[in-house]
Amino acid sequence: MYENIIAETSVSKECVPNFWKAVDIYLFKTHVVNKKLFGVKTLSVLSLNRLEWSETRVNFDHKLLEEITAVPLAHFVDYTREILIKCVVQATEENPDAASVDHFSQYGNDGLIVLNRLIPKNIGVFKPLDVVCLIDYASFSVLLKCRQTEEENNLFPKMAFELKVVKDTLSIRYASAGSFDARSMRWLEEVLLGRMQKWMESAVPTNAIGIRTSSIRSLALVDNLEEYNSLFHELKQKYGLSMVSIWPECTDPQKFVFEDIAIAAYLLMLWRKERADTGEDKLQSFVDIGCGNGLLVYILASEGHRGYGIDLRKRKLWDLYPAATVDLRVQTIVPSSASLFPDIDWIIGNHSDELSPWIPVIAARSSYSCRFFLLPCCAYEFDGNGSATNTQHEAYLSHRGL
Ligand SMILES: C[S@@+](CC[C@H](N)C(=O)[O-])C[C@H]1O[C@@H](n2cnc3c(N)ncnc32)[C@H](O)[C@@H]1O
Repeated sequence: MYENIIAETSVSKECVPNFWKAVDIYLFKTHVVNKKLFGVKTLSVLSLNRLEWSETRVNFDHKLLEEITAVPLAHFVDYTREILIKCVVQATEENPDAASVDHFSQYGNDGLIVLNRLIPKNIGVFKPLDVVCLIDYASFSVLLKCRQTEEENNLFPKMAFELKVVKDTLSIRYASAGSFDARSMRWLEEVLLGRMQKWMESAVPTNAIGIRTSSIRSLALVDNLEEYNSLFHELKQKYGLSMVSIWPECTDPQKFVFEDIAIAAYLLMLWRKERADTGEDKLQSFVDIGCGNGLLVYILASEGHRGYGIDLRKRKLWDLYPAATVDLRVQTIVPSSASLFPDIDWIIGNHSDELSPWIPVIAARSSYSCRFFLLPCCAYEFDGNGSATNTQHEAYLSHRGL
């Protein structure tokens, strides 16, 4: 029993069913309430149903949470199943990448068990943490416990706790049988309760016929969050700090340097996966059109990819790169058959302004195998006119008919 209330608040009645959507945000996007986290990787999801001949309802209590949290990670699914079978509950393994508490709530399941790995931003300081979540649909309850409570961290509450809705009251509770941590309690009361309430009460965007247009989970742009995070960390050490210290431009180095490192990490992962899929050993070549300060070109080239950057204007930073590694060219691209790249594997358009709509066209005309990476910031027509109102990503996609 989680009989002790840490904090509670009322929510409007019509928002109570949104509890599961709010739980989805907290479970799968925990980084939105803790800036020290980079993201969440879901390791296991088990949907739960009591066995047909069972008379009693599934009972998720502190003892069960403790038992499942203590299961060795390597045998999490098998051992958890064994524990649950004793409670006459059948557990079915689900795809962790597609799991949503809200989604499963609509399919008559009694409950769900989620094992999540919280990945810290600074992997030099913090270790990843694993969190077990027991979800009971009938009683609108979620029990959570971090497996590594002994470690000094402020990435997740150190004590087991429950998120629960009774009628129109949302509460956070703890069990007398469990441990108690004053700092965690304060955070649960002062931060998490308000966020959960806000998520429950904020409308979920729908289109004209009422279908949800936004997913709680964003597009999984990177397959392996941990690998991406460690590559990002590695590139930050390798290029970030030195670049910030010598930045000669009048723009904010913190913004530009770390954004370009994040994009470089993404491209390097994408290209690594492409090579693994095709069995090709040779590193991909690239051209960055509208390369600006050239930092992305510098990182990709330093990581061994043959490529160059083009911009109609030279930047001060260009002179600071080692000339032997970095090829940056002053040139104005005018979309035509004179601006094609038949020997290049990838064309990059990173915030490439007026050139953005042309990048897929240039890639298609360059060669049948030429791929492109486009990260537009504003919507532009083919004639170079910008759309004054379309600045959002979604507006951009609809503008381009995607
Ligand atoms: C918004 S900036 C982005 C710069 C860089 N990619 C970044 O993300 O920091 C757009 C860049 O595209 C360049 N550019 C715009 N039109 C171009 C063209 N026709 N040919 C070459 N460069 C162009 C501009 O000079 C500018 O540096």
